[in-house]
Amino acid sequence: MLNGKYGEDAAIAIDYIIQLGEAFDAKKLVDIVYCHYPAEMSIYKGNVEDGCDFAATGAKIRISTTSSTLAVDVEKPGITEAPQALIDLQQKVVDAHRSMGILETYTCTPQHLGFIPPFGSYTALVESSAIIYYNSVLGVRTNRGGLLTRYSAVCGKYPLMGYLLDDNRKGTHLFNVNIADEKMQTSDAWSALGFHIGKIAGSEVPVINGIKTFNQEFLLSFGATLATSGSVTLFHLIGVTPEAPSLQQAFQGAKPKETHVVEWTDLEKVYQEQNTLKQGDPVDFVTLGCPHYTLPQLQLTAEKLKGKKIAEGVRFWICTNRMTRKQAEYSGFVKTIEQSGAKVVADTCPVESHMRQSTCREFGLEVPNIKAMVCNSGKMLRYVGDLIGCKVALTDFDACIASAISGKLVQKLNISK
Ligand code: F3S
Repeated sequence: MLNGKYGEDAAIAIDYIIQLGEAFDAKKLVDIVYCHYPAEMSIYKGNVEDGCDFAATGAKIRISTTSSTLAVDVEKPGITEAPQALIDLQQKVVDAHRSMGILETYTCTPQHLGFIPPFGSYTALVESSAIIYYNSVLGVRTNRGGLLTRYSAVCGKYPLMGYLLDDNRKGTHLFNVNIADEKMQTSDAWSALGFHIGKIAGSEVPVINGIKTFNQEFLLSFGATLATSGSVTLFHLIGVTPEAPSLQQAFQGAKPKETHVVEWTDLEKVYQEQNTLKQGDPVDFVTLGCPHYTLPQLQLTAEKLKGKKIAEGVRFWICTNRMTRKQAEYSGFVKTIEQSGAKVVADTCPVESHMRQSTCREFGLEVPNIKAMVCNSGKMLRYVGDLIGCKVALTDFDACIASAISGKLVQKLNISK
């Protein structure tokens, strides 16, 4: 491949991957079965040119490859009020991806679209919330691929290193969760748990013990927040995730470096310390769908918003991928949601969009573009303060809806600031 037998693009790509492996002392390259491609978000200077230049070399992907989120809802560009110049930039990226054969998923949750490689297989992915889910919940092996993921997509190889190796998948820190099951029944509570554990675990591998009930949505929220309050890439949940049927297996027979007990008061502290809005404060933005929503979540949102109206001056985005939005349009959920004044946004989300402070400045938009946001995602909570520059509150799904309708923060009852 390096000698050009499989084309110039493969030769260039494998050269980068070999250099990556050499830099990390990898013993060999392995075949990968799937890639999630960096979307070259148009809000980053130079990214569009870089992505388009690479595609212009005639590069083609050689394995199944999906694409991560964009800065614009390209399918319905007017829906987020993104500036036309940014829409044009983003369209260039979309055209470049298409020419390379990348699947136009534009989402942080490709697993919801059926991209689920077999347990133990090797992949190269971007998007921290997807990476941690694939590693931990699906047992599919990946590192944080970054921009080099593009070269893996073209040559189908990755160095055997990092989280591809058994040894690095061993648990390091034990967290015994001592919280009543009924308190852990919302995404925001799992986000708060992820926030707390991520801060302690940093870039280690936390093992969580004592959780009784869970679902896909909770695991997704938990992982997304672990990956942002810390830089956790893999977690084990005893009795739940596939590499952790027991403590012994999660730690591969080793002893934890640290052991912590997590109480409900630790999660309350997350709300108290991170929420910069208080009960009754005016809000101008509410968002659900971080990580991107599934069809059942859109169905539930439509049911809750049926016959209701969003308060004047409030923007309410429910974010998903374009395929799920299509399904939701077919089922009538999008229409119901839109009748309330809320929007079902695809391809992007508030922190990936034009509403970042730096992008607003570049395109002459008001800064900050949002004053006060309500969300049910710990990842969104962690990012918006810095990136968008607004006040923010983490609360549950019902309180998000109630806040959007009243135009004021309606905090969940058992959390106060
Ligand atoms: Fe996805 Fe945006 Fe959240 S990319 S994980 S919806 S911050």
